[in-house]
Amino acid sequence: MHYRTLGSTGLEVSVVGFGTWQFGGEWGMEFDQPTVDAMFDEARACGINLIDTAECYGDHTSERLIGGAIARDREKWIVATKFGHKFFEPFKREERITPTQVVEQLEDSLRALRTDYVDLLQFHSLGDEQFRTEGLWETLAQEKAKGKVRHLGISIGWNGNITQTRAAPEVGAEVIQVVYNRLDRKPEEEVLPACRQLRLGVLARVPLASGFLSGKYRPGASFPANDVREVWMKNRRDETLREVERIACEEVPEGVDMAQWALAWCLRNPAVTSVIPGCKSVEQVRSNAAAANLLAGG
Ligand SMILES: NC(=O)c1ccc[n+]([C@@H]2O[C@H](COP(=O)([O-])OP(=O)(O)OC[C@H]3O[C@@H](n4cnc5c(N)ncnc54)[C@H](OP(=O)(O)O)[C@@H]3O)[C@@H](O)[C@H]2O)c1
Repeated sequence: MHYRTLGSTGLEVSVVGFGTWQFGGEWGMEFDQPTVDAMFDEARACGINLIDTAECYGDHTSERLIGGAIARDREKWIVATKFGHKFFEPFKREERITPTQVVEQLEDSLRALRTDYVDLLQFHSLGDEQFRTEGLWETLAQEKAKGKVRHLGISIGWNGNITQTRAAPEVGAEVIQVVYNRLDRKPEEEVLPACRQLRLGVLARVPLASGFLSGKYRPGASFPANDVREVWMKNRRDETLREVERIACEEVPEGVDMAQWALAWCLRNPAVTSVIPGCKSVEQVRSNAAAANLLAGG
């Protein structure tokens, strides 16, 4: 594993982190504690120390499973969670962004994660109006002063959102999380250069294009009815998978696993600190961690 400093936070994070939206039950399967424990044992063995979760991956479900898995060595992990939504049922959440609601959510997150602090608390992909909610960032600064939050971040929704990116220093945020992968290079235009200029850490999310960049799906593929790719991503799916086939032929070196290649591709951009691929099995954790070997000196 390789490690990099996450912007100005001083946190040393593994270049391959662990995305955990999957634990919330919107990716075609449910997870139980023994399954998640085994995945975290593998992550430890591979040197992964960065976890990305959120308040609405299930109703704090993902956080609860993580809390169980890391209770014995919590201080060794960099735990990033988010605020801004209430989960009701799969594929149904509502925004909750007033200062009072955000503090309540933070308390719920801390309880679920079985910890008294989170390393990174991120604004969860809401619009510019919500970003400017009166008193929001002042309240978060108070939570930081109390020691419940070590650092603040912004997970931008639209991956060209330069407004929120540029506003990060003024609201006290040190990290941008953004969709960035071989199929979606929009952040290269403005967001990633601004992150470098402002010394913001960058977490590249959806680095496998929701699994499509693994190369294991062909045009015409379908997914279970409780899989986000069936519910929210039907549009242009075949077109995406045709593009993946072209990339597999023209860009992925012979003998290299395409998912690992796709993660290393993101990490070669000097603005990117870490990738946070979502994982569903011990094998995926192991394979994704090994993408670090494709980097120079790996
Ligand atoms: N707004 C936000 O802040 C936001 C939004 C989205 C995601 N996120 C975060 O970013 C993380 C990553 O994004 P994502 O999970 O949406 O997409 P992703 O990482 O691009 O894709 C994840 C999917 O890829 C497949 N996969 C993973 N490792 C693989 C491997 N080694 N080989 C083959 N297939 C593999 C798995 O699905 P199958 O095996 O079923 O194909 C997995 O569910 C999330 O887990 C979450 O923590 C944040």
